[in-house]
Amino acid sequence: MEGYRLNPLFSREQIASIVKGLAEQISEDYRDRDLVLVCILKGAFMFLSDLVRGLRIPVKMDFVRLASYGSGTKSSGIIEITKDVELPIEGKDVLIIEDIVDSGRTLQFLKDRLSLANPHSVKICALLDKKARREVEIEVDYLGKEVDDVFIVGYGIDFDEAYRNLPEIYYVTPIHQQKG
Ligand code: IMP
Ligand code: MG
Repeated sequence: MEGYRLNPLFSREQIASIVKGLAEQISEDYRDRDLVLVCILKGAFMFLSDLVRGLRIPVKMDFVRLASYGSGTKSSGIIEITKDVELPIEGKDVLIIEDIVDSGRTLQFLKDRLSLANPHSVKICALLDKKARREVEIEVDYLGKEVDDVFIVGYGIDFDEAYRNLPEIYYVTPIHQQKG
């Protein structure tokens, strides 16, 4: 994309209200459980940090980093884990924290991978979901908002590593330059 524009999608207030709702639901459902959040780096770091401050139950957290081959706005579907969980998750209630679901391949890979360690349960919490783009069957147990098939940036989510710091969420559109 040579020329592009960032269009506002969710304000700070809208994000805060979405995250608060998720935190309340998770606090309720995981009361008296042994909850370990597994945050997918880098995109979900900001979502995780707000979400955990809204939880009212004991929680542990860990981080994984996944590499998906391909660049720009499209991934290839070949996924590798480059930083694994460090906490023991056997017998624990694991909740994966993801920024945005597209094909679903990242989450399918990670859910299968974490299940090998025999956790008590593995569920998924995602801030955003582009349901229309799903290529594999994967269920998001806690979803913030469904979004259209647009390219998203901000609130941890990047475009070639830029814009992660923005406190709001935007969608990117190309600017068609006139010739001559
Ligand atoms: P999936 O494996 O195809 O579901 O892709 C999920 C991953 O692709 C997410 O963890 C994001 O890192 C990235 N991704 C998907 N959609 C977007 C987007 O609109 N903007 C930025 N990154 C995205
Ligand atoms: Mg990601």
